[in-house]
Amino acid sequence: MQKLNVVRLADDARSVTILDQTRLPNHEEYLTLKEPQELWQAIKSLQVRGAPAIGVFAAYAMAVLAENETDLGPAEFLTTFNEQADYLNTSRPTAVNLSWALQRMKKTAAAHQDLPVPELAQCLVEEARAIDAENREMCRKIGEYGVTLIHEGDGILTHCNAGYLACVDYGTATAPMYMAQEKGLHIHVWSDETRPLLQGARLTSYELYKAGIPVTSICDNMASIVMKQGKIQCVMVGCDRIAANGDFANKIGTSGVAILAEHYGIPFYTLGPSSTIDLSTPSGDDIRIEMRDPEEIGSMWYKEPMILPEIEKFNPAFDVTDHSLLTAIVTEKGIVYPPFDVNLKKLFANQ
Ligand code: MRU
Repeated sequence: MQKLNVVRLADDARSVTILDQTRLPNHEEYLTLKEPQELWQAIKSLQVRGAPAIGVFAAYAMAVLAENETDLGPAEFLTTFNEQADYLNTSRPTAVNLSWALQRMKKTAAAHQDLPVPELAQCLVEEARAIDAENREMCRKIGEYGVTLIHEGDGILTHCNAGYLACVDYGTATAPMYMAQEKGLHIHVWSDETRPLLQGARLTSYELYKAGIPVTSICDNMASIVMKQGKIQCVMVGCDRIAANGDFANKIGTSGVAILAEHYGIPFYTLGPSSTIDLSTPSGDDIRIEMRDPEEIGSMWYKEPMILPEIEKFNPAFDVTDHSLLTAIVTEKGIVYPPFDVNLKKLFANQ
């Protein structure tokens, strides 16, 4: 299958090119970026999106900013670099991968600050490329563990897009689906449309269809009927931040799907790399939920407003699923079962 290039650093590391995900599925368009403000805006506006892809993009963005500032003196270079990292970090609050990648780039800069600036910038480019490569490998391993949870003929429901478009490679929630296909298992994916920005309809259905994986797109309020009709054997979703007790933030609507899955006795899994696990956040109550432009609900995708402009709108971009609803967390280091507070610490305390 021909995958689109989600995030790519230019050979001279002076710009980063992204697939503009706000234009999918009807237009495959790319944007080449290098200025701090446009890099920030690309994350904010979801031109690049999905927790792992945001992390990889942020690392490349910092490499580009470094490479374009090699004429600065060492002290000024480091101060500017750290300020730009802090600025990018303000673009979106919920996915921990953003601050994780920026932190890693800042640490690399600090560790090599005695080098001449062009060499320091080169170290930063290499670090960003390493983050990208590690992310791809983590997604592949998540797929290998996750596919052990899938059986021949299974129906799998997913929410939002935690596919390769969100991760640069196999994806997280979709990784076991791609692996199942490679193994010759027959599965059917049910893709929630994911109001208000339609990542499920526009992106997940699109990428799975293009990959030849059977997929049916449903509105969010149809999840219950397909579960009740026995079409769903498990739910697999991505995650933006997993707290120490196993509560996790993911796209708005995820927690409702988890509640439905429990009602119908269907296993519910979240899948994510270690860069999404945040043991410094004790529980879901401590996760900051991004609030977005209310017009995304009422008018953004419609020819005419579907809600009168004067009516108040509420648009949280994520919700938190309680760990009690979660069957297991699939990571690149293995499948984590309850008690999550104990078992997450065992695998990830030293990372
Ligand atoms: O707002 P988005 O489109 O960036 O939200 C994406 C999600 O919520 C994904 O499910 C999550 O980032 C996991 S991606 C592997």
